[in-house]
Amino acid sequence: MSEKTLFNKLDKDRSNLIKALQMVQEKEGYVSNEQLTNIADYFIIPPVEVEGVISFYAQFKRTKPGKYIISVCDGTACHIKGANLISNWITDELGINDGETDAEDLFTLETVACLGCCSLAPVIAINGKVFGNLERKSLLKILRRYKKEA
Ligand code: FES
Repeated sequence: MSEKTLFNKLDKDRSNLIKALQMVQEKEGYVSNEQLTNIADYFIIPPVEVEGVISFYAQFKRTKPGKYIISVCDGTACHIKGANLISNWITDELGINDGETDAEDLFTLETVACLGCCSLAPVIAINGKVFGNLERKSLLKILRRYKKEA
């Protein structure tokens, strides 16, 4: 589906700019330069204005995410139970820091707020699938399984 098809049902009103960005983000996982230009053309506004909106809202990403998005919960319960250790172990294993994607475009690491399953803290989600009660050994086992499956 082209970007035009994605949002051509929207009124060309600026109030729909965020909606168009959300549609692109949902489909592609990020807003590429090409999509940014398409959106600017569609709403007849300067690309720099679209860029400004994207940078204002944390939900929009400008870089292509990896195949697997690892979301490390840093909500209160997970923070207390060692979310920073989880992030460090992932960084050690995959060589990526928060917000980064590895060279193979396989894993993207991000820190998120509460994933809604605090009783399982510390928790991560990989492409939305939740893993809880993590310790170093169980975490590495999960990461290596995803690597193998890729
Ligand atoms: S604080 Fe991590 S799941 Fe709620």
